[in-house]
Amino acid sequence: MALKFAKRVADIKSSEVRELLKLTEQPDFISFAGGLPAPELFPVAEIKRVNELLLETEGQAALQYSTTEGFEPLREWIANRMNQRLQTNFTKDNILITSGSQQAIDLTGKIFLDEGDVVFCESPTYLAALNAFRAYGCEFVEVATDEQGMVLEDLEAKIKQYPQAKLIYVIPEFQNPTGLSWGLERRQQLAKLSAEYQLPVLEDNPYGELRFEGETLPSIKHFDKVGNVICTGTFSKIFCPGYRIGWLAGEEGILQHYTIMKQGTDLHSNTKAQREIATYLAQYDIDEHITKIRELYRHRRDTMLQKLDDVFPKEVQFTRPEGGLFVWVTLPEHVDVTPILQDCLAEKVAFVSGETFYPTSQKRNTFRLNFSNMPEDKIDIGLEKMGRVLRKYLEN
Ligand SMILES: Cc1ncc(COP(=O)(O)O)c(C=O)c1O
Repeated sequence: MALKFAKRVADIKSSEVRELLKLTEQPDFISFAGGLPAPELFPVAEIKRVNELLLETEGQAALQYSTTEGFEPLREWIANRMNQRLQTNFTKDNILITSGSQQAIDLTGKIFLDEGDVVFCESPTYLAALNAFRAYGCEFVEVATDEQGMVLEDLEAKIKQYPQAKLIYVIPEFQNPTGLSWGLERRQQLAKLSAEYQLPVLEDNPYGELRFEGETLPSIKHFDKVGNVICTGTFSKIFCPGYRIGWLAGEEGILQHYTIMKQGTDLHSNTKAQREIATYLAQYDIDEHITKIRELYRHRRDTMLQKLDDVFPKEVQFTRPEGGLFVWVTLPEHVDVTPILQDCLAEKVAFVSGETFYPTSQKRNTFRLNFSNMPEDKIDIGLEKMGRVLRKYLEN
């Protein structure tokens, strides 16, 4: 007898990136597909010492159940860091530790979305957020997006058109997938619109610390006068993603709902991981570590952009991000990226086609390249091969 799964099982497909990642585990593959940090920068020796120290000094507490809200010293550190970097005004009581910022996104769906509700998002946007929200039966409305962020005239028109809207989801810093960041005015205006129409904003910011040049701007939350903006953050890109430790930051009244929902999901995030990170932060200088990450990624981004200039056909456009992990490529409108990806995979080079980052529009001429995870020589070789494939298709 066939099992009767919930309707949402059929609505959600396996992510193309996850499938590609399996393929690219082969050692001779050059992968621009995932969003993986550079593993050679994981502070393995330091973590070994931290682990020993932790188990010696607070081993029992580190291995015990703990509160849903999370380890207090870690929450305190996060609140201070956000206030200092993003011009927010948080205390530890505004922070809920989550299992990666991915869980923060999922819990946002859980507390805000009913079947048929509308979520406004950038076009394109982070595909794992789409899948997380989709499980709650929502619909997506893409808002026109340019180099400065969401086009807010379009957002306002759509807010009026879709009264069933419940949430605005944005990634204002080095966006996944485009690598672009929002301008100051758009941040301010979005906070204003969110207050005017009483629509919560999820400000998802996993890449903000990875700025290679230019000025750090205040967050959207900085402009939030009514408490409608909820932020996420993560240790995945500034420390190690395997810990699965991220956070939500928002008004206490809203966080209470998150906390209750999180209890039903996993009771709390990994106690030992939280305490290990807190011990690392007390023992080592994370800014020094983040500086190393920024330097390596800046170098890889430069290598990628230089090579794209050199070997991609001139009619191919791409973003020039000031930080983060990704470059976004746009082919002439009539070109379909699907056979190009197949040819590149046959050459053992992988990237992600852009289609999945659009919840509704059917754009087939874009793709995403990751530069953080491949050494410079492989970036050169991989893009050389991609350039050859692209020339074949564009010249035809
Ligand atoms: C935009 C965005 N949000 C959230 C996440 C989730 O990150 P994590 O769960 O590792 O914190 C990612 C991961 O790549 C991302 O790109």
